[in-house]
Amino acid sequence: MSDTVKLSYNGKEYEYPIIESVIGDRGINIAKLRDETGLITLDTGFKNTGATKSKITYLDGDLGQLYYRGYPIEQIAEKSTFTEVMYLLLEGELPTREQLTQFEADIKKNSLVSEEMKQILKSFPRSAHPMGVLSTLTNALTAFNPHAVNVKSERDLHNAFTLLLAKFPVLCAWTYRLKLGLPLNYSNNRLDYPHNFYQMMFRKPTEDFEVDELVVDAIDKLLILHADHEQNCSTSTVRMVGSAHTGLFASISAGVSALWGPLHGGANQAVIEMLETIKDDGGDLQKWINKAKSKNDNFRLMGFGHRVYRNFDPRARVIKKVADDIFNKLGIHDETLEIAKKLEEVALSDSYFAEKKLYPNVDFYSGIIYRALGIPTEMFTVMFALGRLPGWIAQWKEMRMNGEPINRPRQIYVGSPKRDYVEIDKRN
Ligand code: SDX
Repeated sequence: MSDTVKLSYNGKEYEYPIIESVIGDRGINIAKLRDETGLITLDTGFKNTGATKSKITYLDGDLGQLYYRGYPIEQIAEKSTFTEVMYLLLEGELPTREQLTQFEADIKKNSLVSEEMKQILKSFPRSAHPMGVLSTLTNALTAFNPHAVNVKSERDLHNAFTLLLAKFPVLCAWTYRLKLGLPLNYSNNRLDYPHNFYQMMFRKPTEDFEVDELVVDAIDKLLILHADHEQNCSTSTVRMVGSAHTGLFASISAGVSALWGPLHGGANQAVIEMLETIKDDGGDLQKWINKAKSKNDNFRLMGFGHRVYRNFDPRARVIKKVADDIFNKLGIHDETLEIAKKLEEVALSDSYFAEKKLYPNVDFYSGIIYRALGIPTEMFTVMFALGRLPGWIAQWKEMRMNGEPINRPRQIYVGSPKRDYVEIDKRN
């Protein structure tokens, strides 16, 4: 018999079952709460509310642990590849060599993006933010791939997933090329995923193309670290939109828009902008720490804090090490990285951050690396989206395969009571 919780209300006793977990949070099943008590719950920001049961990713915010399908992120980041992580998140198991080879082939056969999509891309001004361009182009895939939209069979779903995994990196690279006014590159099926993305981003028709393996490896590792993260804002958006049986591309496009926000994936861009501001302001770290602590100042330390992590974000630890490796090997002395390290040191020694359990998150160091890799600031969140794509797809798949109902939360109404219409000449 599973545990239960008891609720007494209006002189009556109610009992609700506990939903067991494999690890981590257990929950109260309140499916009958409203029918039995007339009450609903309210949890603005869903800080204490589970939206679903999932088998994909687990994180322990207190211990700073993150598992993809049970595998610790540290082992995955060290030993796996982004393509293998895509398979793991989507299928639930690490692939055999044959399965991985077939998966890569299924992706490659979809890597040509409709030429007409270029007309949509080129209708944007170069000043357009790449996340807005990417969200639009992702949605436009619906029009150019109608066969992959309202799919239900496992085979058709697999085809839609591999189609999106193939075309999304092309669209990401195109947003970068548009921003710089460079000619667009096609996908090259002779290359593996990271090398292909790297050439689409940086190859110029006028020069011999030299591949920096260190940069390719860093990009693959960064994509792995961003691949999934439970029911975060953008993933919840993908599941919310998908719950209406909206097509895959439109659901993912909504996720791109949610990730764009500076409190979410847009933080990696906001971190660099913050560090640049601190540097241009003379580098007085304590001044900015005080601003972040002040109730009268809406400045926040971007890249710090997290809804779930009350410890170091394990991804931040790995990314910080990747940053050190990259800068040492590339011989880069980045003043912004030095400011970031000092800012982390000063913040973590300050009781405000310790008491509120605010630690560096995944975005604190990622932007510094992207910049070192030659990626412009406005592209950082596009890189986050590229990494998160397999996680979004896996979560959308789980929601649809589980036959989850349309998401439709209730509310507590605090507006005007019923009143009669007043003719305009009688209003004061
Ligand atoms: C991502 O959910 C995920 O998994 C997201 C993500 C993923 O992989 O999908 O991990 C990616 O989005 C990482 C987070 C990136 N965002 C930032 O770095 C932006 C800066 N961080 C904050 O805005 C904030 O920490 C959030 C948005 C990340 C979390 O906000 P919460 O959980 O809603 O916490 P809160 O705003 O209620 O803050 C709690 C307290 C407040 O103080 P009090 O009102 O209690 O006195 O902590 C303070 C806040 O003022 N606080 C900060 C702070 N973050 C929280 N104070 C200064 N600087 C900060 N960064």
